[in-house]
Amino acid sequence: MCGIVGYVGSDKSVEVLLSGLRRLEYRGYDSAGIAVIDPHGELHTRKRAGKLQTLIDDLDGLALANGATGIGHTRWATHGGPNDQNAHPHLGDDGKLALIHNGIIENFAELKRELLENNPDIVFASETDSEVAALLVGIEYRATKNLAEALRRTVARLHGAFTLLVLHKDEPGVVVGARRNSPLVIGLGDGENFLGSDVAAFVEHTRRAVEIGQDQIVTIRPDSVTITDFDGAPVASREFEIAWDASASEKGGWSSFMAKEISEEPEAIAKTLLGRIVDGEVRLHELDALGDALNDIDRVVILGCGTAAYSGMLAKYAIEKWARIPVDVELSHEFRYRDPIVNSRTLVVSVSQSGETMDTLMAVKYAVQAGARTLAICNTQGATIPRESDAVIYTHAGPEVAVASTKAFVAQVAAFYLLGLHLADVRGALSKAEISGLLEELQALPDQLSTVLEQHEAIKQLAGWMTDTRAVLFLGRHAGYPVALEGALKLKELAYIHAEGFAAGELKHGPIALIEAGQPVFVVVPSPRAQDSLHPKVISNIQEIRARGARILAIAEQGDAAVLPYADVVIPIPLASTLFEPLLAVAPLQIFAMELAAAKGLDVDQPRNLAKSVTVE
Ligand code: M6R
Repeated sequence: MCGIVGYVGSDKSVEVLLSGLRRLEYRGYDSAGIAVIDPHGELHTRKRAGKLQTLIDDLDGLALANGATGIGHTRWATHGGPNDQNAHPHLGDDGKLALIHNGIIENFAELKRELLENNPDIVFASETDSEVAALLVGIEYRATKNLAEALRRTVARLHGAFTLLVLHKDEPGVVVGARRNSPLVIGLGDGENFLGSDVAAFVEHTRRAVEIGQDQIVTIRPDSVTITDFDGAPVASREFEIAWDASASEKGGWSSFMAKEISEEPEAIAKTLLGRIVDGEVRLHELDALGDALNDIDRVVILGCGTAAYSGMLAKYAIEKWARIPVDVELSHEFRYRDPIVNSRTLVVSVSQSGETMDTLMAVKYAVQAGARTLAICNTQGATIPRESDAVIYTHAGPEVAVASTKAFVAQVAAFYLLGLHLADVRGALSKAEISGLLEELQALPDQLSTVLEQHEAIKQLAGWMTDTRAVLFLGRHAGYPVALEGALKLKELAYIHAEGFAAGELKHGPIALIEAGQPVFVVVPSPRAQDSLHPKVISNIQEIRARGARILAIAEQGDAAVLPYADVVIPIPLASTLFEPLLAVAPLQIFAMELAAAKGLDVDQPRNLAKSVTVE
């Protein structure tokens, strides 16, 4: 949730921290703060409630105090409201030490009680769980005079999930970090080193990164990096090159990151397919890490949250149809609490843009313990979920900065479809010719989607007319159903309008009672040429609600004459078969939600109460 950045190097820490925080702000934007050790060895901290810009506007002369060592934090509040006091960094050792934290320290109340009992003079300046950690590290530092050792002793007492970064004015040129079930990555520079919640924090300075494993402590100095486990034993690490470049996470002239990211959807699909289709066959070398397991599995379980879970719903339809394997899709947070049936013949596929969603991470860990084979579909290199899984298929959507997931969704679906066709091949469920034909359809999608995006202005106009709308319904059948759910989620999270997605066939079992004169209803209409009976069924559903006064906003194939008589608005999309149509139908709904939010004057990149990466359960 929170964004964390650490720096040691030359006297430019304030600039490095602020630019890192700017790139991490999507992780949380309730408050922001930095701590730096200036060239004279003095520790300065500044923290402010509100967005990063409030902190920047209030830095006074801190730039003059620029030093070579610093940490920075952008917060998504958990313990204690979003005010200046609860903003990070928190101080320990009588103000000589600063600490930032991402995650939740579950036993903080107990530790706080103990601190108060043993140190009657201690004063808590905030309501956070994090401050307890700062005070504990301070106490341990006084005993050890070694920051890494002090942090090591402290984390041994913490329960829960955390990334912690600390610096101490008596150890300039040193930042120490620790992580458990919360993200932290190292950036390797030349005479400088970095720490970040993800690589976006430092990608403008270096493309060389190092993963940090669970329960590890890292100490960075300008010319060295040391990693140990929580017992202090050195551990090996893996360096990787960051595939993103810094400009990929710039707004680049667009009005919002979300607008830019929607425009990048065709490229996100194309890049995810690139190199993975050769001579009409799927090539997923990443799956080699699973050995022969794919031949033995008798079931697939897909885990994800929010938009990622909707991509999993589409994957279910595709994998079951093509590979004839039963697939269950579960919200990660529901999965492990109901004693699910998972064994060595289950392939558990997690899907996550960030690779850090705590609910999904915990569900994957459960699956690993239950003996399942695990595969991650993930967009972020160096993230935790791929590290905890047997294999990973990276989507190549590039950095997604807007809180609302858009290009990551279409890339996830593309990756899932590759997996489905690969499984169909391995299990002989489809002929080579059938697979090759489906792959051709998949490869045609980026161009088709580009034509859909050309309708942005028309959709914007529609959204502009609907700013007073109080509720919108979304209907779809089969593969159109997850699209309806996604359209509703986007409208809720961006425009704060009540929205519900329904399976069109379910309407008459209750929700049709919601329809009254003028109620806007988006309907995802399947192709009339698709070889199934979906189209006439959806047309009937449209007639049922239109008869009751609904205003129909249809997303339908170009030239679908059956829709025209009943629709108030038609957003046309190119012909695609049932399973591929969602990749064309979703963008209009994303654009609609974004433009409606913008027309209401809302921040489309950073909607209220949300954070991009949900690293608490
Ligand atoms: O990083 P993840 O893909 O695991 O995130 C999952 C959800 O939190 C995410 O898709 C969320 O629903 C988005 N805000 C939707 O736009």
